[in-house]
Amino acid sequence: MAKGREHFGSGAAAVMAMAGSAIGLGNIWRFPYMVGQNGGAAFIIVYLLAAFFLSLPILLSESIVGRATHANTFGAMEKLAPGTRWKWLGFLTVISPLIILSYYSVVGGWSIEYLIKAAGSGFNEEVSSLFGEFIVKPWAPLICHTLFLLLTVAVVSAGVKSGIERFNRVSLPLLFILIVVIMVYSLTLPGAYAGVSYLLKPDFSKITPSVVAAAMGQSFFSLSLGVGTILTYSSYMKHSENLFSSGLGTAAFDLLFALIAGFAIMPAVFAAGIEPGAGPGLIFETLPYIFANMGAAAPWLSRTVSILFFLTIVIAALTSSISMCEVGVAYLVEERGQSRRKASLLVFAGTWLLGALCSLSFGPLSGVHLFGRTIFDFCDHLTSDYLMTFGSLLFVLFVGWKMPRMTVWNEFTNGGSLPGNRRLFGPVWFLIRYVAPLVILTIFVTNLVS
Ligand code: TRP
Repeated sequence: MAKGREHFGSGAAAVMAMAGSAIGLGNIWRFPYMVGQNGGAAFIIVYLLAAFFLSLPILLSESIVGRATHANTFGAMEKLAPGTRWKWLGFLTVISPLIILSYYSVVGGWSIEYLIKAAGSGFNEEVSSLFGEFIVKPWAPLICHTLFLLLTVAVVSAGVKSGIERFNRVSLPLLFILIVVIMVYSLTLPGAYAGVSYLLKPDFSKITPSVVAAAMGQSFFSLSLGVGTILTYSSYMKHSENLFSSGLGTAAFDLLFALIAGFAIMPAVFAAGIEPGAGPGLIFETLPYIFANMGAAAPWLSRTVSILFFLTIVIAALTSSISMCEVGVAYLVEERGQSRRKASLLVFAGTWLLGALCSLSFGPLSGVHLFGRTIFDFCDHLTSDYLMTFGSLLFVLFVGWKMPRMTVWNEFTNGGSLPGNRRLFGPVWFLIRYVAPLVILTIFVTNLVS
């Protein structure tokens, strides 16, 4: 282990950090909608298969590289494949999370604005048109974006243990408590049952190849794969920790949160008699509208739930953005000899600037297009459709074909000392070496063609 390098205090702390990275906007604004649209329980089964047979092996690949080297993404490649082109994978995975961080923090900023609104004047009937008016403004979203990034950077610059670990240790349980409270409220609304049946009614006829591909894409995004965050967090795990159970725990928490979020959101949407949608519209238009409407019957209750809801979103987004930020900071500290504080400031400066452009691309810069998309959309599509899949592909190829099998085995079984993992190694190795690359390549090409 590199001298003076920090590590997470326990396996549970590592799982909480990784689950914190995984649980984010993806679980709240896309998963519930995808489930409802694409066959309910049938989709959940497909998603489960994708999560455990495809995403988990990718996650494990990143974990193996991270913990084998105890290094940042760039340093990891230098250690395992010095002087080769694999260093570009190291670079790619420093850049990708920072691009994600830039636009993610714009959305994080919107959530802060809505949290403040919920706690302040509350929402009224006009709330759904408010969103469109808000995001095109030049200043307010920019200030919120800045605030969100500052919070992110503050946690990261406090260090792996006293910043990241401490923040996640509190946030992750809190997130689950909050979302369960909202779910209970939502399920007790009159007419909530329609939302439950939207989520659960199995319809296998909806399962087409493109739905399967979408399930896989969602599972990549939700588990933060392919961009070095899992690698970086795993590099802070001790050699005694069990990589398989940490990875499994992370995937399980991520799925559980997504499901609970579904039961927190859809029953409320249906109770209000609204057609569900996905994306920013769901969180910033539909739900505040519902909160506003319930206000008449029990103002204090709807007020409380709306505050709790936006608090959940802000915290969920922060635990993700922190993990993206750490990838860049770890690189600058370990490869460029910066202090953690200076590295955090540098990441702040870079992502603030790109994020500002993303934020302004809804208003003053909406005329600026890159490959036919606004700056925000371009960054989103570049990362979700290409960089995450491409990064994931390279990671499984690296672990499956470049790393010595013995090194992988050692890392996965802790030098042979974990009997359960020894038995699992064969199937996991097969998934990493053959299945994952072929499937990811298919998704990648499909994205490229469409
Ligand atoms: N998993 C996060 C979510 O569900 C989003 C995300 C995508 C992410 N890629 C990431 C988070 C990389 C951290 C790092 O919202």
